[in-house]
Order: sequence, then structure tokens, then C-alpha cells
Amino acid sequence: DKPYYILALETSCDETSVAVVRGGREVLSNVVSSQIDTHRQFGGVVPEIASRKHVEVMTIIVEEALSQAGVSLTDIDAIAVTQGPGLVGALLVGVVAAKSLAMALELPLIGTHHIAGHIYANALVGDIEYPALALVVSGGHTEIVLLESEGKFRILGRTRDDAVGEAYDKVARALQFPYPGGPYVDKLAQSAEDEIVLPRSWLEPDSYDFSFSGLKSAVLAEINRSRMKGESPDFSALARGFQQSVIDVVTTKAMRAAAAFSARQVLLCGGVAANRGLRERLAALCEEASLPLLIPPHKLCTDNAAMIAAAADLKWRRGEFSSLDLKAEPVFSL
Ligand code: KG4
Ligand code: ZN
Repeated sequence: DKPYYILALETSCDETSVAVVRGGREVLSNVVSSQIDTHRQFGGVVPEIASRKHVEVMTIIVEEALSQAGVSLTDIDAIAVTQGPGLVGALLVGVVAAKSLAMALELPLIGTHHIAGHIYANALVGDIEYPALALVVSGGHTEIVLLESEGKFRILGRTRDDAVGEAYDKVARALQFPYPGGPYVDKLAQSAEDEIVLPRSWLEPDSYDFSFSGLKSAVLAEINRSRMKGESPDFSALARGFQQSVIDVVTTKAMRAAAAFSARQVLLCGGVAANRGLRERLAALCEEASLPLLIPPHKLCTDNAAMIAAAADLKWRRGEFSSLDLKAEPVFSL
């Protein structure tokens, strides 16, 4: 059992990340170069700029990840890369870099699904017990996924409009916070003394789907109502109302799914897993239901390449490799 090393690349959105992971679980390096300062001035990610920035930094980040891990390219056993979903031009940079490395070093290439990465970030912090119920909440995704067994995913529900993080960012903008504003709304909601109660979007009684665009509109409508009356809107009470509505709906649906499918564990992942209110509520509900809960540390929740290595490890152990004509898949099913 010689230790093996996976070099993983992630470029699906606005983070260029490269990681070296030993034995599928030991993160030796996980370098993340964020473009957020560049995109902030536009209030969101500009795809064309994202691709160009990935090209600029890719080789530097690969070298940095190797050097931090204390290994050289000749130690690497496989190259993993995010194949999709994501911005097509951004994905392409990672895919081309990964193929070049695999070809030059004559190493197996492992194409990986971005959401499988977010979910398997949990394997870097604990043992996953199946069936497991994963709640994926990020800027681009909101999904309830059942892991029937290792690497076997079943999507039970997803958002029909905005992703949770996207809704947070839009509300944050209305509350005059810079992009990405999710963490500001979280902080304001935590310190709020009052709450403006906002609607909960449960959808059909048996649905595990989500909808957040109505909630976002409700926040905007409250702001307008105050301004029409010549009053200044109570931003903190609105932040609290928004956060409570989101947390109620996502945790209730996740716990209902966990019970319905006899999950033995709950996994939380994606950038919004940093939300303190969400972590606390889910932890309390899981304790009540005597269900173990895994939440990766913040650095493994936001986009990073170590999680891609963790998901690629499932395929490595099964010898499931990709061919060199692997394509970037902007829309990619799990
Ligand atoms: O997973 P991620 O880094 O990128 C995607 O793959 O989308 O998630 C970023 C998202 C942003 O929308 C950001 O506002 C949100 O996660 N976010 C938060 C918090 N921290 C980050 N949303 C609410 N509360 C937070 N504490
Ligand atoms: Zn992501």
C-alpha cells in the first residue's frame, strides 16, 4: 500500500485552486487564488474575465501547490479536474491544464463533478456512512442529495430559481453590502434585535425543491414600502427575517428527507455552510434526531481543489479514468 498522490485542479467559477492530496484523505496543500477583488467592481462574476484570470495564474498555482506539499510532479500518481458544471470558459482552462499534465507525465486523468466535490469534502473530515443525506448550499447550487452508497448520488430536490447563496448576495446588495454579501447578511441577522417575518416557500407538501426568488422579492418590497412612507428600512430586522426563512425551509426539508430515506448521517457543504445560523440550527435538529452531522471547515466548503481530489479518489480506487478527449461540461448531471 504505497501512498498515492492526486494533483487536483478546480476552475469552475472564480477561484483557481490546485491541491495535492495523499491517500485520498490527507490534504498536503490546497492553494486557492480568488478573483473576487476583480469581480467585485462589477457586482458579480464576469465569465470572460474569470477565464483570463485562470490562464494567468494556473501554472503559478500548480507550482505553489507542489511546493507547499513538498512533492514534485514525478511523485504524482493521477491528475483530477473539475469537468463541470460551471462557466464553460473557466472550466476549459482547468480541463486543458489537466490534460496537458496527464499527457506529459503519462498519468491517469480523472474528470470530476463539482457537486460530488462539495459533498466529498466531508470525506476529508470524517467517515461517511451510507445512506447519507447531503445538503449542498452554495452561490451556484442548492440541492438535497441522497448518497445511496459510495459515489451513488440521487438528487431529491433542487432550487427552481435562485441558489441560496445567490439569494443572499441579491438581498445583500439591496441592503447595500458589497459582493459577495452573504457573510454580511449573516452577521447582521445574528446581531438583529427585531425580525420582520417573511414568507416561507414550502412548495408542494411532498417536494424537496426550493424557491428563493419570492423571498428575495419580499425583502425588496419591504424596503420600498418603508421608503414610500418616508421611513428608513430596518435592515437588520430584514436580514434576520430573510435568514430565518431560508434556514427554516432548508433545514426542515433536509431533515424530512433524512428521515424519509433512513439516512445514517447528514452532510452540509458548499459556501453557504459557513452561515452560523444554518450550522447551529442543523446541528440542533440532527442532535434531536440522533443523527451524526458532518460539516467541513470553511476552507473546504468554498470552492477548492482538495474537495475535487476527495471526489476523484472514489474513481481512483475503482480505476475509473477519463480519456484525453474529456470535455468541459458547463451543464453536467451528477
Ligand atoms: O461554494 P461557494 O464558494 O461558491 C460556489 O460554488 O457558488 O459559495 C459562495 C456563496 C456566496 O454566494 C456567498 O455569499 C455565500 O456563499 N456565503 C454565505 C456565507 N458565507 C458565504 N452566505 C450566507 N452566510 C454566510 N456566512
Ligand atoms: Zn462550488
